[in-house]
Amino acid sequence: MESTLVILKPDATIRSFVGAYTIKAILDQGYKITAFKLVQVTDKLAEKHYEEHAGKPFFNWLIAYIKAAPVVALRVEGENVIQGVRRLLGATLAQKADPETIRGKYGIWGGINVAHASDSPATAERELTLWSTKAGLKKNGQEKAEEYAGLQCFTKDNTKKLREVCKNLTERKNNVEDARELIKRLLTEENPSAPPHYISNLTEVIIQNCLLS
Ligand code: RTP
Ligand code: MG
Repeated sequence: MESTLVILKPDATIRSFVGAYTIKAILDQGYKITAFKLVQVTDKLAEKHYEEHAGKPFFNWLIAYIKAAPVVALRVEGENVIQGVRRLLGATLAQKADPETIRGKYGIWGGINVAHASDSPATAERELTLWSTKAGLKKNGQEKAEEYAGLQCFTKDNTKKLREVCKNLTERKNNVEDARELIKRLLTEENPSAPPHYISNLTEVIIQNCLLS
C-alpha cells in the first residue's frame, strides 16, 4: 500500500471551505488519512521541503507562501495514492488546471494552488520522514481529518472574482493598492473569522505571485 504527503497550503486553510473540500475529495476516493497535523512552517522546514526548487526565480516566494498561515499536513494511504492525489489536484498553475480538478476549481492563480502532493514514491518517503521528524506529523489522522472537513462552514466562494483580480494584475491592468484591498475583502468574505494577519500574508503572496509572472 502506498503513502503520500499532502499539505493543505495557506490558501486552503484560510479559505477553510477549500481545505474541507480537498479532504472530502481525498476521502471520497476511498483513501485513508493516517496522520493529520496543523503546522506553522518554519524557514528551515520550508527550505528543506522545497530544496529541489532552490535557486529558481520563485523559490523565495514559495517559502513566503508556505509560511503565510498554518498549513495542514496529511499522510494519505491507498492503492496508487501518489498519482491518484496528483490527478485529483490537477496541473500546477491554477488557471491552467482542468476545471474538474481541485486546483481548477479552487486554485486562485499561478502557484497559489490549494495543496501539495508528493510526486513519486522516493519523494513521498523523503517528505513523510521530514514532516514526521521536523513537524511532528504522527499517526491518528482519520478522525481529525473527518472532523476538520465537517466543521468548516461554507460561507462564500469568491474564486472567480479572485481570479479576475489576479488576471488583471498579471496583465498590469489594475494597480497594486486597489488589488490588495479587493483581495483582502474577497478573502474576508469567504472566511470572516480568519485572523486578519493571515489574510494580509496570503494577500501579499497572491500579489507577488501575479507580479512575478
Ligand atoms: P506541489 O509540489 O506543491 O505538489 O506542486 P507541483 O509538484 O505541481 O509543482 P512543483 O513544480 O513541484 O512546484 C512547487 C510549487 O511551486 C509553485 N510554483 N510556482 N509561478 C510558477 O511558475 C510556479 N511554479 C511552481 C507552486 O505553488 C507549486 O505547487
Ligand atoms: Mg512538486
